[in-house]
Amino acid sequence: MQVSRRGWLKNAGVACFGAASGGLAASLCGASTPSGAGAPPLPWPYVKLDPDAVAAAAYEMHYKGGCCFAVSGSIIGELAKKVGAPFTTWPTAVMTYGGAGVAGVGSLCGALNGAAMVTFLLAGSSEKEKQSKASEITRDIFNWYAQTALPTFRPAQPKFETVKVICRSNLCHVSVTKWCKASKCKFSSKEREERCACLSGSVAKHTVELLNAHLAGEFKAAYKLPAEAQKCRDCHDKGSAREDSRAQMDCGVCHFTKTPHPQL
Ligand code: HEC
Ligand code: HEC
Repeated sequence: MQVSRRGWLKNAGVACFGAASGGLAASLCGASTPSGAGAPPLPWPYVKLDPDAVAAAAYEMHYKGGCCFAVSGSIIGELAKKVGAPFTTWPTAVMTYGGAGVAGVGSLCGALNGAAMVTFLLAGSSEKEKQSKASEITRDIFNWYAQTALPTFRPAQPKFETVKVICRSNLCHVSVTKWCKASKCKFSSKEREERCACLSGSVAKHTVELLNAHLAGEFKAAYKLPAEAQKCRDCHDKGSAREDSRAQMDCGVCHFTKTPHPQL
């Protein structure tokens, strides 16, 4: 499937004189041109991928550019092979930023960050309906990640055997540190790198499985928040009396691990 440049512009709804001349569009339309109008509109054309092939590619790519690069690059790389443009124009290296919880900060797991970007690219758009579908798929990936003993992916020739942990969180910090505790390895160890390479393989594979289901019109969210966290949200999230907490995460990872909730 090829998308011509003229086709992208038409689809993007660039409606000013001379827009089809591509590079000229920006100067003719001035400030009213959305940035990136030269790129095709979202979602970019997804075709069914082989989850195992993508997982193996993600594992290898992890050793080149880390988790966020690996998950996004493996999926986009397979699409570049099968579809060609626009995937061949994607600057794969940009996603390196998300490694180790964004620049080593230990915030959002980079494998999830890459998965969320790709999901939006392939299922989202500026339309509300597509946005909420992409968000629904993303949350399902995040909940699966928090609730599953990972990594589930094992390469043909692992460098080390890896301990699996359920981390209950989407944070790199929590994920890596719980694994360090379980494995008794340091986070700068080769064992930890192998574990995260396998984690990238796992997340890439799962993401492709969900995108394949979405393509077939069969996606259904399978991982809910724990019932306990859902109860917390009834009193603290949007629509509740207090509405003081934006979170669709497992609250108990951080709250009331030592002290109880205040008596109500
Ligand atoms: C029935 C409603 C209700 C539920 C369910 C509930 N909360 Fe609360 N929460 C409150 C109210 C009301 C307060 C304020 C209490 C106060 O100030 O004495 C509060 C206070 C808090 C605080 C501040 C605590 C502090 O020490 O000052 C946190 C954090 C919190 N809740 C988190 C949670 C989490 C996490 C859950 C789920 C495990 C949860 N809440 C479930 C109503 C609720
Ligand atoms: C990754 C850790 C983390 C998770 C997960 C998390 N929180 Fe928090 N939450 C915090 C921190 C840190 C604060 C700020 C605490 C403070 O100021 O003392 C906070 C503050 C709050 C407060 C305000 C507390 C106050 O003192 O008034 C509420 C209410 C709250 N969280 C509810 C929730 C609920 C409900 C969930 C789950 C849906 C949740 N949190 C998930 C870390 C977390």
